[in-house]
Parts: sequence; structure tokens; C-alpha cells
Amino acid sequence: MKFWLTTLLLCLSLVCARAGVLDDIVPHPAKAELLKGSFRISGAAIKCDPAFDAATVEAVSRFAARLSYACGKTSPVSTPLGLRDALAGGKVKGLVILHDGSLADEAYSILVSPRNAVIRANGLNGVFYALETLRQMLPTAIYGNRQALKDRWTLPCCLIEDAPRFAWRGMHLDSARHIWSIDEVKRYLDVMAMYKLNRFHWHLTDDQGWRIEIKSYPLLSQIACWREGTMIGRDFSSNDHIRYGGFYTQDEIREVVEYAAARGITVVPEVDLPGHMLAAMSAYPQLGCTGGPYAAWTIWGVSDQVLCVGKESTFTFLERVLAEVAELFPGEYIHIGGDECPKDEWKKCPDCQALIRRLGLKDDGRFTAEQYLQNYVTKRIQDYLATLGKKVIGWDEILEGDLAPGATVMSWRGAAGGREAAARGFDAVMAPNSHCYFDYYQAEGGEGEPLGIGGFVPVEKVYSLDPLEGIAPEHAHHILGVQANLWTEYISTPEHLEYMLLPRMLALSEVQWCSPERRDADRFLRVLREHEFPVLEQAGYNYRHN
Ligand code: ACM
Ligand code: ZN
Repeated sequence: MKFWLTTLLLCLSLVCARAGVLDDIVPHPAKAELLKGSFRISGAAIKCDPAFDAATVEAVSRFAARLSYACGKTSPVSTPLGLRDALAGGKVKGLVILHDGSLADEAYSILVSPRNAVIRANGLNGVFYALETLRQMLPTAIYGNRQALKDRWTLPCCLIEDAPRFAWRGMHLDSARHIWSIDEVKRYLDVMAMYKLNRFHWHLTDDQGWRIEIKSYPLLSQIACWREGTMIGRDFSSNDHIRYGGFYTQDEIREVVEYAAARGITVVPEVDLPGHMLAAMSAYPQLGCTGGPYAAWTIWGVSDQVLCVGKESTFTFLERVLAEVAELFPGEYIHIGGDECPKDEWKKCPDCQALIRRLGLKDDGRFTAEQYLQNYVTKRIQDYLATLGKKVIGWDEILEGDLAPGATVMSWRGAAGGREAAARGFDAVMAPNSHCYFDYYQAEGGEGEPLGIGGFVPVEKVYSLDPLEGIAPEHAHHILGVQANLWTEYISTPEHLEYMLLPRMLALSEVQWCSPERRDADRFLRVLREHEFPVLEQAGYNYRHN
């Protein structure tokens, strides 16, 4: 008797759509209405409108392969002509994916009825997000590696109409302080894609290492990518004396860019300048004000040795580097850093001071001549990148002095930079360290946590971010979106990296995707425990068990 009861309950749990399944979707859709009945998706034929491009059909095929594997019943994919008319004639069964040019970029709808489930979207991102929403509605085995033996899976009949609140839904990764293998980067992209993030900000250069192959400067990947050891724990006077480094070849970079694009993610590379350049200067000491010698830093923090911008040859270097970067990354933005650039060397350097005089820059009580010199650098790089069809984004320090029109600001020292940028007519991305620094601890005082940089940003805090707080309604359109940053000074293993990322990135995804009315911290925290932790478990990620 007990055996039959257990079997019955198990079958019911597989056959019936889970109660509350629509509530469980993260990020929560703009509109999700339960209808009567259910649709059997296991073994359903998948018909994709031939109006979609090959990348979209490929994304559908990947979904079909995973579904087929996980539920043990094959879902064949086809791209039949006349799909729309056949659907209107009531003839189509299965999962149907229709091109709908009237929908906004990234928006999608799903109408599930007993006969079929119909997705509508205008391109790859919308289709991809609809399929991710379906995955969130299916048994969590869809995320795992276990092949089921002919499970019967259903979706509840429903209508979902969904679109993101913000266009820029970013997650950053510091590959300079610690380098991550291409497979680790792909896993990072996979979990970003699961939660509908669409910008991968890749921090590729810093004082402690240069990570991108630049063909015209081969020493960057022979010298600048190495440091002679790393400080141990928090002891700035220590060194483990283990040579540390590595770099990504241009082929590897292309592989990541392509992998991300297939999942609707644009990669935004960062070449941090004019500060945070010590590693590059170790390979090409003429780039510095003093001429060196320099060595990539073995300790964390910010070197006061920065690029000598008084020498024209420094701009030749930057332009040749950025030309190769622009070629590798097809997105519209290149991040040029601009943060934490100490100005002491510029004050002492005859070349930098001569340039300041030539440009007529002066301390004016608000900003120093050297801060205006950084504006000059930003503007030159901005103009150069414009000739390559690229836009510049930089950390909020680029606002100091006179930022030229057209630059976008990433607000990290709280939200003030984003507010100021929007008020002054610049586009901005909110990444305030108060809510979006995922290198900060998840427990107060770091209690019980692996060693980290400090701070305290629990998942609830991330969820509470209001990106438009303090922004006048008429400036709100300047806030392109929200991003979290994951600096890796104190993070050297993929397990630790994922632990810092998850589950905070899930809270971030609702901040990025959902309108304020659709956000509900109680619902989110319940769904996190009951549904998303099992999802992450199945997908094999390490996460903090909040
Ligand atoms: C930063 O955290 N220095 C942008
Ligand atoms: Zn100089």
C-alpha cells in the first residue's frame, strides 16, 4: 500500500505541473497568467519559424537536445514553411516558435494550451529568454546531467508576456587578479544566460596581470601576463613566490565572444587606463613616466605608477592595442576603466607637465590640472574608438572635470556617479558597491566566510537596490541598466568564484529585469530556497546556502 501511494505521488509530481510554477520563475516575468489544463512537452515536436536566423535556430536545437536528454523522449526540431498559416488553421501541435517583428528586442510571449505551446519573439534574445522561462517551469532535471527514462513532463496552460526593464543587464569578471580558464568563463556565461543577463564585462588588464594577447605587442603575453608571486592572505609584506599568470589567445577570446553571443550576451572588454597599467609597463617600460623598471604587482591595491600620457608614443600604444581589441569584440562598447588613477607621477613628470601647459590646463579649485589631463586622455581615446565605430564606457571617475559628450559612465562608488551622469546628460550603468560588489562578504564581518576583501552585501541587500532612486523622471532614460562586479583579489578557485556569484546574481537578475511592481523580496527568497537552489544544484554550481 505504502509503495503504491509513494509511486502515485511520484507520478503525480512528474505529470502534474507544479503548483505555483509561474511564481517560481526567476527573474519574475512581467505578466504570467495561469489558464486551465496542461500541455505535454516531453517528446513534443518543435517547429521553428524559418524567418529566424541560424543562431536562433541553433539555440532552439540546444534546448531541444537538453529537453530530449533530460526527459528521455526525443523532441525533433524542424523549420517548416507556412508555419504561421498552419497555426492559424489550428493544425499545429507541439512547441511552436514564431517570429514576431512587432515585439520589442528581447521581449517574448508564451501561450501554452493543451494542443500546443507558442512562443513569439523578434530574434535570438527573445527566443532564448522564452526557452529559459520554459526551463524554469520544468522539473529541475532539465538543468542536470541525468538522463531520464521516458519521464512525462507537462507545462501548465498559461499566458506569459515578458520584457526586461533594463537593456544593460551586466555581470563583470576580473580575470586580471586571478585568471579563469575558458571553460570556467563559459560556466559563468551559462549561469548568466539562465537568468537573462546580457552583458559580460570582462576585466582583462590590471596592475597584477595583462590577460589578452595583442599581436602588435608580443611582450604583453610574454612578460606582462606574469607576476613573481602573490601576497598571502591579507599580509601585504608577504609573497608566496609562486610565479602566477597566463593570458587568453585571440582565438580563445573569439571563442568566448561567440559562445556568449549564442546565449544573447555581448562581451564588453575592459582595458583599464591610464591607471592600473603596471603590468603593461613591466613589458614596455617606456610607457611610464619614470621609464621603470617595473614589475607586475604581487600585492593587491592600486599602483601609483601610471601611463605617461605626456608622451605621444603612449597613445600609439593605446591605439594599436585598442584597434586589436575592437576587432575581437563586436559589441558597441569598449570599457576604458579610468578608475583610481593616482596623479602623483604626472605632477612630477616633465612630459606630462609640458602637455598640461600646452593644453592650458589649470587647477581651478574644483579639479586639478592633472584631473583635466585625464579628461584629455579619455576624450582622445573616445575619439579614436569612434573612428572604429565604438563607444566608450568608463568608471565614474571619468566624470571628474569635463567629460566629453557621448561617453557612458559606470557608477561604482555608490550611485552618486550614476545620478550625476544622468543629470548631466550622460548615459550610465548602475553598479554601486553598496549593492553590487560581489567580492564583498555575504555575512556580517565575514563571519564564517572564506577570506575576502571586506564589505557586506547579502542577497537581500542586492535585491533591495532601486536603480532609479534619486534620478529625476526626465533623466531616467539615461540609466541603461544595472551590473554587479566580481573582483578577484581574494578569489582564486572556481568554487569560491561561484560561491561569491551565487545566489546574489539571481537577486541582481530581478533588479535588472523586473519592474518595481513585480519585485517581492518574500516571494524571491522563498523561490530561491525552494526552486533556485535545486536548479543550481542540478546545474552543478557552488553557491551560498543562505
Ligand atoms: C573599481 O572598483 N575600482 C571600479
Ligand atoms: Zn609622464
